[in-house]
Amino acid sequence: MIVAVDGPAASGKGTIARAIARHYGLPHLDTGLLYRAAALALLRAGGDPADAAQAAKACALSGIDFDDPELKSEATGGIASRISAYPGVRAALIARQRDFAAQPGGAVLDGRDIGTVIAPQADAKLFVTASAEVRARRRFDELARLGIPIPFPDVLADIETRDARDRNRAAAPLVMAEDAHRLDTSMLGIEEAIAQAIAAVERRARA
Ligand code: DC
Repeated sequence: MIVAVDGPAASGKGTIARAIARHYGLPHLDTGLLYRAAALALLRAGGDPADAAQAAKACALSGIDFDDPELKSEATGGIASRISAYPGVRAALIARQRDFAAQPGGAVLDGRDIGTVIAPQADAKLFVTASAEVRARRRFDELARLGIPIPFPDVLADIETRDARDRNRAAAPLVMAEDAHRLDTSMLGIEEAIAQAIAAVERRARA
């Protein structure tokens, strides 16, 4: 079974995708990490995020340690969002994602374009969302826990900028697949969101 989980930044899609993977015993790929890895490789090579060709080259991901905490930073996420608009970057990362989805037994992938571009044949598709304020609050709390005090208005502005860029780019924009189940987690706790997500996958996969 292939499960596609898409949604905007800090919507809870990663937590939900990991829980679905655990529930069904499937491998999971956080595809945002690939774009973040490309962003970090570009920065470490002294490259310019405004240069599409340099960004595409960085997708070889040479020298990147996927456990590097810098991958999770807001700065890396912002550069990832910028370079992910380049068709050359998307093309360079597509094979890894499609291969992961095509492995025997299936997989769970989360990102922005899994249900629309990477695995349109997925057995179940979820579009996980929440209001920008709720997502910014979650990100703010997470950063505070990590000891990174960023003012709430800055976190909210960052989320809104990233949303606009991810939704409005020409190449594989963030958009809900027509056959996806929309799950708004604004008013849900983690356990409730996971329970509703698994129930939706059950319904879709058995349909
Ligand atoms: O999910 P994330 O915040 O780790 O993703 C970082 C950026 O990578 C996001 O702003 C847009 C890009 N991305 C993408 O374009 N397509 C994906 N499937 C996953 C992430």
